[in-house]
Amino acid sequence: MRLDKYLAQAGVASRRSSKEIIAAGKITINGEIVSEPGYYVKENDLVAYQGMKIEKEHLVYYLLNKPRGVISSVADEKGRKTVLDFLLEADKQKRIFPVGRLDYDTAGAILLTNDGQLTYLLTRPEYEVPKTYLARVEGLISRQAIKTLKQGVEIENYQSRSTLVRVKEHNVQQKSSLVEIVLIEGKNQQVKKMFEAVGYPVKSLTRIGFDFLTLKGIKRGSYRELKIHEVKKLYANKKK
Ligand code: URA
Repeated sequence: MRLDKYLAQAGVASRRSSKEIIAAGKITINGEIVSEPGYYVKENDLVAYQGMKIEKEHLVYYLLNKPRGVISSVADEKGRKTVLDFLLEADKQKRIFPVGRLDYDTAGAILLTNDGQLTYLLTRPEYEVPKTYLARVEGLISRQAIKTLKQGVEIENYQSRSTLVRVKEHNVQQKSSLVEIVLIEGKNQQVKKMFEAVGYPVKSLTRIGFDFLTLKGIKRGSYRELKIHEVKKLYANKKK
């Protein structure tokens, strides 16, 4: 594996910053400074950063069905439950973190991994990873509102991009609607703000899809490990 990739996978820094660290002569291999990011790390090479040995971490990938009332970070100063609380003790030592965020009161699909490179790719806006949400909104949503959402609405001086929106249910008794929406961008609380902007506030929100991954077979509060081919597909799907 290339040295820059090795450092990124070991969680030292992003791939880009790893290149800079290497070029700055801060990495030694078997005691010698190596300033070439393309250096091919061999099985028995001893890689060190500022004198500290760097070991490649075993990479893990989990898809969690996050319940509401859980924070999507690795720790919470208020002591609230975090997405890591659902993992086994042994996993918690692996410096796993969530890929992106879901609000405290949003449920659904969230990826947990210690692969910094994949996290980078999946969270960069230019890679346009589609995320599918089911929103229960107040009121019987109008055709006009759906059209506006599809075309893009203005939220806080930002024009949301055109997107897929589908009404799944109009509940006349409860005066609410169930709407599916796919976003390829991820502004803070974007779904809630978009529905708010067209006059139908979100009552509850669930992310049912992250890229091609769905919640099929994963109960709320449970998770599953991704298959190798799924990890490869997550990498491959990104626009070059
Ligand atoms: N949009 C929201 O409003 N909340 C989320 O948690 C995710 C997307």
